[in-house]
Amino acid sequence: MNSLMIKGLIFAAVLIGATFAVVKSMHIDLSDPINMITLIGAVAIAVLTVGVSIKYINQMKTDKATGELADESWDGIGEYKNELPSGWAFSFLGTMIWAMWYWIAGYPVNAFSQIGQYNEEVLAYNAKFEEIHKNADAATLQEMGESIFLVQCAPCHGETGDGLSGKAQDFSSRESKEQVLAIIKNGSDQLKYPMGAMPAGMAQGADAEEIAAYVAGGMKGEQPASFGVCAGCHGADGKGNGGTAPNIAEYDQTLIEHVLENGRKGAIGTMPSFKGRLTPVQKKALATYLSSLKS
Ligand code: HEC
Ligand code: HEC
Repeated sequence: MNSLMIKGLIFAAVLIGATFAVVKSMHIDLSDPINMITLIGAVAIAVLTVGVSIKYINQMKTDKATGELADESWDGIGEYKNELPSGWAFSFLGTMIWAMWYWIAGYPVNAFSQIGQYNEEVLAYNAKFEEIHKNADAATLQEMGESIFLVQCAPCHGETGDGLSGKAQDFSSRESKEQVLAIIKNGSDQLKYPMGAMPAGMAQGADAEEIAAYVAGGMKGEQPASFGVCAGCHGADGKGNGGTAPNIAEYDQTLIEHVLENGRKGAIGTMPSFKGRLTPVQKKALATYLSSLKS
């Protein structure tokens, strides 16, 4: 028995001893066959590792290279013109084929995905929901809208839609004078109406003040002549020319759908987009509910 053998045996004994120490310290129950098989596996791995290592270390010590030497010599180091060992070459080719299969046909393209399953189930559920409530009456929409509002919108807009003292839109009136003034001054291009963007600086100074007061007041009383520049797009009644521009007189379903889809950043703050998070019926329900909040 040479010294390498003895070192190997000692090393294997240490590995096995350490494995038993871990098993003991973790109070693993060895009457459970799975634990027992695992332990036998661990011991086998330790023995095989040491055995195979000893075999190759010995072989390296005694093996002599054979074959025809290549002409090149690199600082005295030569190279044999031996064929690739066939086992090595086949494993290399096999790995390449497997890699191609893996990327093209196997995982990840065709793998089962929990997220995918979840999304499919949500879509199926939403379709069923839309089908059931396709012709929901006003009372159902109102109730549905209220419950969605309380969960999704009330944290910012307040339980009664009062905007939590100016932290978000107060739904009891269309928009405040400051908001209208800010829009007139800066324009807006967020809601994706067919008319496109609202240009900045459509009115200035006293005109802008007068228009803003009129719009914020719910467009009641005599219309100032200066509102003419707005009427071209928003309509003389402010109702948005049949949906091509926002209705600035009241919250209508089109406006609420555009706002929910795109969000809006304005004088108060940022209204987040709810894109993909509400079904058409749910948006309609919210519109029904919001228009009932008008004072
Ligand atoms: C060229 C057409 C055009 C003109 C003229 C115009 N607007 Fe607009 N307005 C729009 C469009 C389009 C939007 C939607 C902007 C967006 O997508 O963010 C808009 C948005 C608004 C909004 C915000 C609506 C909301 O809820 O987000 C207000 C308020 C408004 N306009 C008021 C006015 C006033 C007041 C005038 C006149 C001084 C005016 N607009 C002139 C096209 C116009
Ligand atoms: C994270 C807070 C937040 C949440 C949640 C939120 N909003 Fe808003 N919302 C705002 C803010 C802030 C504004 C004012 C934006 C501005 O400055 O014009 C606003 C404005 C609005 C407007 C008016 C936009 C306009 O163009 O006049 C509508 C309509 C609206 N929200 C509906 C909703 C609905 C419906 C929900 C629930 C599905 C909701 N919001 C959830 C913060 C929020």
